[in-house]
Amino acid sequence: MSDTPPISPKGAPWRNFYGRRKGKGLRASQETYLAEDLAALSPGPVDWEENPDRTPLDLAALFGGREVWLEIGFGGGEHMVHQAARTPEVGIIGAEPYINGVAMLLGKIRSAKLDNVAVHPGDARDLFDVLPAGSISRAFLLYPDPWPKARHHRRRFVTPEHLEPLAHVLAPGAIFRIATDIPDYVRQALEEVPRAGFDWLAEGPEDWRTPWSDWISTRYEQKALREGRTPHYLTFRKR
Ligand SMILES: C[S@@+](CC[C@H](N)C(=O)[O-])C[C@H]1O[C@@H](n2cnc3c(N)ncnc32)[C@H](O)[C@@H]1O
Repeated sequence: MSDTPPISPKGAPWRNFYGRRKGKGLRASQETYLAEDLAALSPGPVDWEENPDRTPLDLAALFGGREVWLEIGFGGGEHMVHQAARTPEVGIIGAEPYINGVAMLLGKIRSAKLDNVAVHPGDARDLFDVLPAGSISRAFLLYPDPWPKARHHRRRFVTPEHLEPLAHVLAPGAIFRIATDIPDYVRQALEEVPRAGFDWLAEGPEDWRTPWSDWISTRYEQKALREGRTPHYLTFRKR
């Protein structure tokens, strides 16, 4: 059997995505943000239809040579906007397939008048294909979908299918942060992330119990806290 994934008619590899792409109806203002702002915030040709050869993105043209960070599954975008506003010397690319979340982010980008962000309204794996090797110096995975049932653990982001291409686009020494409220997700992350070429930087419990100094709590963290679950903050460095 070949290791090559099956090819869809458009030339893209088959990638299962189990999350939601659309929720309840968008507000009129959100439809406007999507129609007016999204195209201009594109990091370049990511989708298979527009870039079947998977030509790498020109990040120097996109961000004028700035350091580049990546947020995977930005949800409503509060953390991405917070980081972009506090580090204007960095360009931040976010990937999120849930279009309602994308619309929320666009509203926040308008209000904050940011010029150092790019938005891929889709699966981070499609972005990994076209990011140049070693081009990203920091990545955030904040409250990834927990997939609590054992038979669904392979759907989690912390699996080789996601971590290996992520490792490829991160520069040596790049920082990879994971926040989660699910103890079994911590277990799987501590097993899988080092296997993909990262060192866990914790020296003691305070390191995973205390938020990063530049942290802003996300919607999912707020929900976890309301429901009595405990956040864990894991910091890895690419070898
Ligand atoms: C539980 S939510 C957390 C959202 C946000 N980070 C927060 O903390 O509020 C997980 C998010 O990851 C997104 N997601 C799932 N798989 C993804 C993928 N392959 N690429 C990018 N985002 C993904 C989902 O659409 C969802 O919005």
